[in-house]
Amino acid sequence: MKNPISAVFVPTPEGAAGGTPDLTHTQVPNASVSIRLQGVGKSFAHGRRQAQRLTVLEDINLEVRTGEFVCLLGPSGCGKSTVLNLLAGFDSPDHGTISLDGQAIRGPDPRRGMVFQQPTLFPWLTVLDNVAFGPRMAGRDARDYLPEARRLLRQVGLERYAEHYPWQLSGGMRQRVALARAWLPGPQVLLMDEPFGALDAQTRLVMQELLNRIWAETGTTIVFVTHDVDEALFLGDRIVMMSAHPGRVREIIEVPFARPRTPDALLADPAYAPAKRRILQILREESGHLLEEINP
Ligand SMILES: Nc1ncnc2c1ncn2[C@@H]1O[C@H](COP(=O)(O)OP(=O)(O)O)[C@@H](O)[C@H]1O
Ligand SMILES: [Mg+2]
Repeated sequence: MKNPISAVFVPTPEGAAGGTPDLTHTQVPNASVSIRLQGVGKSFAHGRRQAQRLTVLEDINLEVRTGEFVCLLGPSGCGKSTVLNLLAGFDSPDHGTISLDGQAIRGPDPRRGMVFQQPTLFPWLTVLDNVAFGPRMAGRDARDYLPEARRLLRQVGLERYAEHYPWQLSGGMRQRVALARAWLPGPQVLLMDEPFGALDAQTRLVMQELLNRIWAETGTTIVFVTHDVDEALFLGDRIVMMSAHPGRVREIIEVPFARPRTPDALLADPAYAPAKRRILQILREESGHLLEEINP
């Protein structure tokens, strides 16, 4: 394996010894690994008559610990959604292997829940019925899942909206329904693709705090795609920085802030600015590559 888990950058407060990133190679202990991607490559047909192949992911190596919150960050089009789709089992890699608890991922499974940017609720179903859709379709007894569906609605602050319809809710409320729905089967892993990207800044903060709280209570492993640097620093244990064209793991940033986190505490933390600056620098470099492709 060329790149066991990529380089890890641990941000240090400004003025700390050296000033240069501390690049070390670390290996996640085997017992705690939940998700493992080894040498993963993926290409798609493109161009005239789909005759060419576009390599979207190349040699992706990544290990995610059980209960860890990992953010994927990188320029648009670098393959973040493709990584999530492979983890969800919606698609399969051309090269390499992807496993969850040592078992190869071969297709979708309710143990790996997915939350998209658009909540994709059924407009003809009530909030409660949307949350309970999965187990009902699986033919389970309503007594098994309805109490849990109601408890989750309470947890996301929508208890009073159980009998409302999606069109009667705001965007943030709809996304909270999607969150409750994803959590109902008690997923081992939650895959989130820019879930708060379409929300206004204020609502996004509320959703981030809510997600942080549920994650801490449930111990679910989360892989969260975002292009929002502050969001990644607020939520993540580690931030996987991806490079573009082809998508690779460029660097992994350990987020140094203690939990529980608040936006205020983060801003006051001396490690915040250096970490944010480092991430922005990488994003700028990677976007530069994109610009070169547009203007060769
Ligand atoms: N099913 C597909 N068929 C062809 N090309 C695809 C498909 N899915 C993604 N791509 C291409 O792969 C690249 C990465 O896409 P994506 O994973 O959506 O990036 P990101 O989520 O980082 O913005 C893009 O160039 C996109 O056009
Ligand atoms: Mg995407």
